[in-house]
Order: sequence, then structure tokens, then C-alpha cells
Amino acid sequence: MKRKEIKTSYELYDSIASLNREDKDLLEKAIAIRETAYAPYSKFKVGTAILLENGICVLGSNQENAAYPSGLCAERVALFAAGAQHPGVTIKKMALTAKSPTQVLKNPISSCGACRQSIAEYEIKQQQPIEIIFMGETGKVAKVDSVKTLLPLLFESSSL
Ligand code: THU
Repeated sequence: MKRKEIKTSYELYDSIASLNREDKDLLEKAIAIRETAYAPYSKFKVGTAILLENGICVLGSNQENAAYPSGLCAERVALFAAGAQHPGVTIKKMALTAKSPTQVLKNPISSCGACRQSIAEYEIKQQQPIEIIFMGETGKVAKVDSVKTLLPLLFESSSL
């Protein structure tokens, strides 16, 4: 038996003000689109802003449904819109932010497992990593170079 180790790391910034211009602009777009969340059930609002290689931004917010599993997270709303509207254009980075109805989220909130898997699909498709910048409602901001940091040992199509 061999024990293998997986090491991951991420960047942590004190606040949105500490980010570089491009990341700050993208996160501000995510904050703005967060308010369009249709979240009558959870009241938990999530916003995502995607920056494509050609400079275009694609935005998304979570969209819920009375039949709960029929709803979709903000990340996948934005990713699927980017895939449909800009096929073949590389996704450079994405920013996300969440707002809770019960507490002020001061720590970074990262994507759920299903969204990580979906981001991984696009990374593999474009053969280029997607940077992910994530925040709660306020406070510290985290950044990873690739979804592989959040989803090591991921399942991919080469296994099919
Ligand atoms: N949600 C997202 O939009 N992204 C995530 O990564 C986690 C959860 C949404 C789904 C649902 O509308 C609400 O947040 C509560 O789970």
C-alpha cells in the first residue's frame, strides 16, 4: 500500500478592494447579478460572473423551482449560458458571491459539488484552467487557479 498526498492551496485576499482590477470588476458584476436570484424558497442568493477570453462577460444567478431539484445554481446558469451563447470561446475566469437571509456571510462561499463537476467539464473541454474567485456577502475573497483545486480526483470523460 502506498499513501498518496494531495496538496492544494488558494489565495486569500482581505477584501474585494485587494483584488486586481479585472478580478474586482468581475466580482462586482457577480454582486450586482446576485440580486436577480429567483430564490423564493431558500432566500439564499448567489451571483456568478464569467469572463470569456474575448472580454465578454456572462452572468447568472440561482433560479429555484417549487419542485426543488428542478432549480439551478448560479454557476451553472452562467456556465450553460456561456456554452450556449459563446460556443468555442475560452472561459478565462469566474467570480461568485452569495448572500444568506439569516447571516452576513463574511467568509468565502465556494461552489457546490455539482457546480464543481460542471466547471470541470468546461475546463477539460477547453483544455485550459478556469480561475475561480469566490466570496460570501462581504469580507475575505478566495481565489483558485483551477477547479481541480476544489475537486481533486475528479470524474472525467476519459474514464467512460
Ligand atoms: N446555490 C448556488 O447557486 N450555488 C452553489 O454553489 C450552492 C447553492 C443555490 C442553490 C439554491 O438556490 C440556493 O443556493 C440554496 O442552496
